[in-house]
Amino acid sequence: MGRVDGKVALVTGAASGLGEAIARKLHSEGAKVVVADIDADRGRQVADDIGEGAAFVTLDVSSDDSWAEAISATQDVFGELTVLVTSAGISMPTPIDDMDLDLWQKHIDINLKGSMLGCKNALPAMKASGKPSSIVFISSTQASSPMSNHVAYAASKAGVLGMAKAIGKYCAEQGDPIRVNAIQPGAIHTPMLESYLAAMPDREEALAFFGSAHPMNRVGQPDEVAKAVLFLASDDSSFTTGAAVPVDGGLLA
Ligand SMILES: NC(=O)c1ccc[n+]([C@@H]2O[C@H](COP(=O)([O-])OP(=O)(O)OC[C@H]3O[C@@H](n4cnc5c(N)ncnc54)[C@H](O)[C@@H]3O)[C@@H](O)[C@H]2O)c1
Repeated sequence: MGRVDGKVALVTGAASGLGEAIARKLHSEGAKVVVADIDADRGRQVADDIGEGAAFVTLDVSSDDSWAEAISATQDVFGELTVLVTSAGISMPTPIDDMDLDLWQKHIDINLKGSMLGCKNALPAMKASGKPSSIVFISSTQASSPMSNHVAYAASKAGVLGMAKAIGKYCAEQGDPIRVNAIQPGAIHTPMLESYLAAMPDREEALAFFGSAHPMNRVGQPDEVAKAVLFLASDDSSFTTGAAVPVDGGLLA
């Protein structure tokens, strides 16, 4: 028996990196999975590769209308929604003394507003399911211990942590069986990290540099984050809400 048998999960950013690993993990443990991403080609490929029990929807997380359509499509295809994972995100350097306001806004719109809109649109669907449900935000260690030139990213991810706490408490106070938590990954080996490595003069040195920020002296793998999401998505975490769970090789310690 799978750990999320009978659940219906929508995973954003599931065309790549962490989102893809999370979608695959939830499906392998029994969930029906909606692969949601703005990148339709790669998203469709991932859903096709997962096979039966997976479907793709195009989603721009920064648009309220796009969210409404994606949630409605999930209900049409799989009957309900009981798990939401918000992994869609962007990360670019934004030093304070040279702040690019468009880039600032993009981080806020995708990373922060995107997670809020997902939650706002998913909650009525989860209530309608009448089943225990779980929302998992992908925040970052940078919400608590940021790199000095990642101002917009750190702000957006710290906002996500605050939302997990506020909305987790709200659902509990309402008596709804919906839990809301956040994961704080350290540096994880995904295409996002690869884009940073590619911009540095020596890729291997750069990888070692990112790894050395963690007491375990390595970067993490997407599957290590997916396993923590699996716990929060499953009923195994039935008394956990409003929590921020580091998956960071000890970085935040
Ligand atoms: N990789 C890391 O080291 C790391 C560490 C901490 C947190 N995170 C967070 O984990 C999440 C996933 O990161 P990743 O490393 O897998 O990155 P990634 O670049 O591999 O994947 C991000 C995905 O988000 C999608 N996306 C971007 N904008 C979107 C939008 N407006 N609507 C819908 N989808 C959109 C992209 O198409 C892509 O498929 C992000 O929120 C990131 O901030 C990553």
